[in-house]
Amino acid sequence: MSEEIDHTTNLLLDKHIQYIVNLDNKKEEDFEYWVSEHLRMNGMYWGLTGLYILNALNKMNRDDLIAFILSCQKPNGGFSGNVTHDEHLLTTLSAVQILLELDAIDKINIDSVVEYVATLQQADGSFFGDKWGEVDTRFSYCAISCLSLLGRLDRINLTTAAAFIDRCKNFDAGYGSVPGAESHAGQTFTCVGALAIINRLDLVDIDQLGWWLCERQLPNGGLNGRPEKTSDVCYSWWVLSALAVIDRLHWIDNDKLKTYILKCQDNETGGIADKPGNVPDVFHTFFGLCGLSLMGYFNLEQIDPAYALGTKTLLKRGLTLPWSKKQ
Ligand code: FPP
Ligand code: ZN
Repeated sequence: MSEEIDHTTNLLLDKHIQYIVNLDNKKEEDFEYWVSEHLRMNGMYWGLTGLYILNALNKMNRDDLIAFILSCQKPNGGFSGNVTHDEHLLTTLSAVQILLELDAIDKINIDSVVEYVATLQQADGSFFGDKWGEVDTRFSYCAISCLSLLGRLDRINLTTAAAFIDRCKNFDAGYGSVPGAESHAGQTFTCVGALAIINRLDLVDIDQLGWWLCERQLPNGGLNGRPEKTSDVCYSWWVLSALAVIDRLHWIDNDKLKTYILKCQDNETGGIADKPGNVPDVFHTFFGLCGLSLMGYFNLEQIDPAYALGTKTLLKRGLTLPWSKKQ
C-alpha cells in the first residue's frame, strides 16, 4: 500500500512527473486529446517546461518531440499547433521554446522563422497573430520573446513595438489586450515581459502596478486575473511573473499562495487544477509549478519570469536576465 502524503503541505513531485509523462500516452480514444488537438504544440511546451522545473526532462523522448515540431513548420517559417493546422505566432513561440529546451534549435532554418515573425509587425508597432490580422499584446510578446531567443531583435522596430504596448497601459498601471481594453493580469504579464526583454521597463509604473498586482491576492491565498474574479492557479504565473520582473514578489503573501497551489494538487492522479477539487490539466499543472518555482519553494529548477523558460536554458543561449534574482 502506498503511503498517503498530505498534499496540502507537500509537493507531489513524483506524481506530477508521472501525470505529465502519461499525457503523452493518452491518444486515439481519449476525448480530451481530440478537443485539444490544435493546442498540441502549446501543450508540449507546458508539459516539457513543467518537467524541466521538476528536473525530469530526461523522461521524454527527445527524438519524437523534435520530429513532431519539425512536422509543424510551414514553408513561410511559422509553426502550427498541429500538423494539419495553420501557423500562428503563439505556436511559433512554443516551437522555438521547446527546441531550445531540447538543445535542437540548429535543426531548423532560423532565418525563415525570423522573417515569418518580423513580417507580422504593423506600422503602429503592434503584431498580427497570423495572416488573419487579429492584434493583441499577447502577439507582441510572442514576437519579441521569439526574436530575442533567436538573437534577432534587430529585425523589428522596437521603438514602435514599445509605443504600442505603452498605449495598452491603463490608469491602474495594468495592461489590456489592445488600447482601451481593461487591465488583465495575463495581458500584463505579456506587456511587462516584452518590455523587460527589450529593456524598456522605464515605461512601467512600477509601484502602482505592484499594488494592482498584489490586490489580485484573495483571502484564500490564491490570485485572480482581474477585480471581482475568483482565484485560479494559472494566475500564480501571470501575476507572479510580472511581480518578479518589477522586483515586488514580496508584496504578496507567498506562504498563503503556496498553500493554495498545493491544495489544487490531485493526490490520486497527480497534476494541478485551476481550483481546489477540480480536475487537473497540463496548463494549470505547469503554471502552478511555475508559481512555486518563482517563489523559491521545494528546490525546484528556476523559471525565468520574462521568458517563461528555465534560466539554465537561457543562460546557455547567452541571454542576460537582469530581473532574475539568483542565476
Ligand atoms: C489568461 O488567459 C492569460 C493571458 C491573456 C496571457 C496569455 C499569454 C500568452 C499566450 C503568451 C505566451 C505565454 C507564455 C507563458 C510563454 P485566459 O483566457 O485563461 O483568461 P481568463 O482567466 O480571463 O479566462
Ligand atoms: Zn486558469
